[in-house]
Amino acid sequence: MAGLRDWVDAAPPGAKLPSTRTLVARYGASPVTVQKALRTLTSQGTVETRPGVGTFVRTVRVARPNDHEWQTAALGSVRNHMPQLSTALRTTPNDVIALHSGYPDRGLLPERLVRSAFVRAARGEAAVDRPPSAGLPDLQAWFAAELGSTTPSGVSPPAPSDVVIFPGSQSALSTTFRAIVGTGGPLLMESPTYWGAILAAAQVGVEIVPVPSGVHGPDPDDVARAFARTGARAFYVQPNFANPTGGQWSPALIDQVLETARRHGAFVVEDDWAHDFGITDDPVPMAARSDTGHVIYLRSLTKSVSPAVRIAGLVVRGPARRRILADAQAVSMYVSGVLQAAALDVVTQPAWRTYRRGLRHQLAARRDLLIGALRDHAPALHLDAVPRGGLHLWVRLPDAIDLAVFARDCEAAGVVVAPGNEWFPAEPAGPYIRLNYSGSNPGAYPDAARIIGETLARHPG
Ligand SMILES: Cc1ncc(COP(=O)(O)O)c(C=O)c1O
Repeated sequence: MAGLRDWVDAAPPGAKLPSTRTLVARYGASPVTVQKALRTLTSQGTVETRPGVGTFVRTVRVARPNDHEWQTAALGSVRNHMPQLSTALRTTPNDVIALHSGYPDRGLLPERLVRSAFVRAARGEAAVDRPPSAGLPDLQAWFAAELGSTTPSGVSPPAPSDVVIFPGSQSALSTTFRAIVGTGGPLLMESPTYWGAILAAAQVGVEIVPVPSGVHGPDPDDVARAFARTGARAFYVQPNFANPTGGQWSPALIDQVLETARRHGAFVVEDDWAHDFGITDDPVPMAARSDTGHVIYLRSLTKSVSPAVRIAGLVVRGPARRRILADAQAVSMYVSGVLQAAALDVVTQPAWRTYRRGLRHQLAARRDLLIGALRDHAPALHLDAVPRGGLHLWVRLPDAIDLAVFARDCEAAGVVVAPGNEWFPAEPAGPYIRLNYSGSNPGAYPDAARIIGETLARHPG
């Protein structure tokens, strides 16, 4: 209600605001909207309500700077140097073309399934019960069965009791790093890798050991050397449709890395974040090939069901499960049963399969549209491989470019890109940007590619 705000700004201190009924008539707004606007002005300290008398423009409106300096002494210096907050989580104005986000557009989600799942969940026991801390048994069984469905003969599938439900993968990563590696312990990570995993590791205070990786995964000799050199207990990996590279490991590489982990008595933490985003390939998790407890497997539903249904399942076999569950209990005790019931409802509807088939076609079309537009308008960009799944293109810029300035100039011209530096746990191997092809308005991709190409042409490199 900009009109009311202007009126208040122009009014002398102490002036009485007209009644709600008058404001409704004057601004053609509903009483709810007027009340909301008044609450906002009150919380901003611009107006004050005197019960039984009315609402008044505040007499003293000069904002007094708050004195928070005492917190500097109380907090002390930063113990674990955290990476900056991610570009992928930024909310941007509607008039820019947003290619930076980590999430699929709402139009790609199974919205009808999600809404009716919430209605049913609200009517059921989940709305009033406390679920077990490892999760609703039926949801545990679903995650176990999903992984079990890709397990080859000769490998025993996971049991429902091997599954721990988390409020999203991010908290499962923090818990796993804390419970398995611990503060100060070494953790191998592909480089580049998911910024959130880097953040979780930094927050736990583990020592990140980067292992170079790309669209075909890491060199198995590098992995073996890193384990031998550091004595690391764990390796965080994304063998299918990695964020950010879109890369996929061959079955041979998966077996080699598994064997190396076994030899070193170490865990592999497999993040299967894009399991539902296969385009030309159906991912077979590394965890399906091992029943020895070496692979801790993480699958999230946040992106494929809804960002409002933050549910992930962690499959962990052996004594490690107790450690992980103990940490999860310390952090959050249990995950809301309503969210778990809603997630389970969505993924067990027959329409879930239909939705996933449709999503595959939509992602393929969007990916190819963006690649084609970049080829036409920004031929200096380099794509190592067309991703067979996932949500992003990982694009290399000419070497001499100043990435931060380039990203800023793209944004000024109307396109938000994610600078690739955020995905490197150490120095970046080159200037990259990550472009999301699952955001809103794919019709704008040609414009976005043109703007990126023009911005590139203005930069030395
Ligand atoms: C590789 C990877 N792991 C985990 C996550 C976080 O998943 P969630 O949203 O379930 O916390 C993301 C989100 O972008 C991701 O890209």
